[in-house]
Amino acid sequence: MTRTKPMIIAHRGLSGYYPENTLLAFQEALKLPIDAVEFDVRRTKDGMLVVIHDETVDRTTNGSGYVGSFTLDEINKLDAGSWKGEEFAETHIPSLDETLEALDRQSVLVVEIKEPGTELQIIEAVKRYDTLEWINLVSFHANAIASAKKIEPHISCALIGGKSIGASDNTFFDFVHATLGCDANSVMVHYSTLTPKRVHYCHKRFLSVGTWTVDDKNLAERLILMGVDAIASNYPDVMLEAMAA
Ligand code: G3P
Ligand code: CA
Repeated sequence: MTRTKPMIIAHRGLSGYYPENTLLAFQEALKLPIDAVEFDVRRTKDGMLVVIHDETVDRTTNGSGYVGSFTLDEINKLDAGSWKGEEFAETHIPSLDETLEALDRQSVLVVEIKEPGTELQIIEAVKRYDTLEWINLVSFHANAIASAKKIEPHISCALIGGKSIGASDNTFFDFVHATLGCDANSVMVHYSTLTPKRVHYCHKRFLSVGTWTVDDKNLAERLILMGVDAIASNYPDVMLEAMAA
């Protein structure tokens, strides 16, 4: 099975140009003809879900400390844009609710569970905004995906694989079986782990193949020829050029 037009996922929004995981980065991504927006979810001290990649706020805000040591109100007040450019100083860390409301079923949303144990709360939010059919829930944590599928069997899910699963065909195939074991319908793997044989191995088992994080046009062209089904990129505009080529 070879697809020539994979889905293009804006990784953390249009994060090559705008502060990652912010409403601004998501809204700018949606101005492109992309298929999906990816973002990361963590929980605050007062149990609210927020959209941020790292376990601390240090890299992407003017604050310091673990996400879990802030209340939603406190974390909302941080400047989440200046690190990327002074013009983004007004940007803040959005809550999951704010994000679901702003994106309002405009594209598929690839929602990464960074902290196992938050899956029930994430699914409840998704249902509150009536966006279940727009969500692809992903995680490095197989237990979080297995639990999400038990909570809501109709949710689309992918298990994420890092570089280490690419050490050999056998480590990759073990990962594929772990994916099947938690009832996910896709793998989302680091591009360095992929070969045509491994893509085919997934497709033979009716698993679609997503890959991250691809910012180089030549690399994207090679992955497209391998038959990947989705590409996550900080520069989805460059990926769209690669597809046109
Ligand atoms: O979708 C997979 C990718 O987002 C995982 O890596 O570190 O960017 O969350 P990371
Ligand atoms: Ca992510």
